[in-house]
Amino acid sequence: MQKLSIHGGVALAGEVRVAGAKNAALPILAASLLASAPLRVTNLPQLNDVRTMIRLLERMGVKAETGAHEATLDASGLTEAFAPYDLVKTMRASILALGPLTARHGEARVSLPGGCAIGERPVDLHIKGLAAMGATITIEAGYIHATAPRLKGARIFMDTVTVTGTENLMMAACLAEGETALENAAREPEVVDLARCLIAMGARIHGHGTDVISIEGVKSLGGAEHSVMPDRIEAGTFLVAAAATRGNVTLTAAPVSSLEAVIDKLREAGASIAVGDDTVRITLRQRPRAVSLRTAPHPGFPTDMQAQFIALNAVADGTAHVTETIFENRFMHVQELRRLGARIDIEGNTAIIAGVERLTGAAVMATDLRASASLVIAGLVAQGETLIDRIYHLDRGYERIESRLSALGARIARVS
Ligand code: UD1
Repeated sequence: MQKLSIHGGVALAGEVRVAGAKNAALPILAASLLASAPLRVTNLPQLNDVRTMIRLLERMGVKAETGAHEATLDASGLTEAFAPYDLVKTMRASILALGPLTARHGEARVSLPGGCAIGERPVDLHIKGLAAMGATITIEAGYIHATAPRLKGARIFMDTVTVTGTENLMMAACLAEGETALENAAREPEVVDLARCLIAMGARIHGHGTDVISIEGVKSLGGAEHSVMPDRIEAGTFLVAAAATRGNVTLTAAPVSSLEAVIDKLREAGASIAVGDDTVRITLRQRPRAVSLRTAPHPGFPTDMQAQFIALNAVADGTAHVTETIFENRFMHVQELRRLGARIDIEGNTAIIAGVERLTGAAVMATDLRASASLVIAGLVAQGETLIDRIYHLDRGYERIESRLSALGARIARVS
């Protein structure tokens, strides 16, 4: 199995272009199921999750032509509305096929995602929302089976803010009869990017980016071309890596307006940050200061950046409290960081990190995508070699991470 070997201690310096956003690309690819003409998606990141989503669509009869950073998906000849367990278990976002399939095909069988390393992560709100639109839903042998001759618009209140839940229901509502109002909707930039793509396909959507999204259903959606927004989590990860190594890095093609919460916290840590139209330059020469934070739905601090900030706090001056409010079991990186010498205690859903002067390289194991990113950051600052096992987690969400970090001066290599 492949591992990442990192020899830490180099301050990152240089420029890196931010790739397309995984969490925008996945729902946008799924949106191709709604259309009877080809959808061309550009600025696609080269990631295992993106390949899995395209494979899933192909199994349903979608014709896919893929290039390096683009794909054209033609769902006009959809044959099978089925998302099998073997694909869904490797990628929870496969659940995004449920809404579009039910809306366009009148029927869908999608595997339940099952357990997940970072918590329970139910999909009850996806199911309740579709049922409110008139779908008949049964759960049999681990599969969600939804049928609906034509979905009907409805007022749907989601009692927890759910990103893929909002996306699934927004897609389904595009082809429903009448108007749907999604209340307490997710305001994440990726939801907005999906809405823009759907609008280009002919959907009538208002209020995306606020907590009430209204969708006026139409009979059919057509083809379109859409460029995926840049990845704010990848961008944030590079910024934290630069800060932790006391470096000087410029991001290009950066999603500047979606990075506010992260940039604020990095400034609090002592970094100077210059923001351009689509560039962010970060410089930090001294030891970072400890920064406390609490994760929250957008525009709050993103849970997908929590692990990286724990790595930063591990070498910061002072003690930080990091509280996770979205997922109940998202501190698995903590015990691995401790192996590198980090001093972290967990009390309930808060990690208390007492910064140390230095970390020391060790063998560690990646447990999930963002946990892996925090181990990479810690490895970049640790003295000696850090060897990270199970990096397939990392390849789900970061494109060629080792070559892009190498270009910034890091001593990092993929080894088998
Ligand atoms: C998405 C992101 C993920 C991010 C998360 C939170 C994608 C592909 N993934 O995941 O990277 O960490 O948002 O920003 O975009 N919940 C329910 N019932 C539901 C659905 C969710 O109770 O039906 C709960 C979850 O258990 C969790 C919270 O809602 O506690 C938020 O989860 P959700 O926003 O749905 O996460 P995902 O969409 O799976």
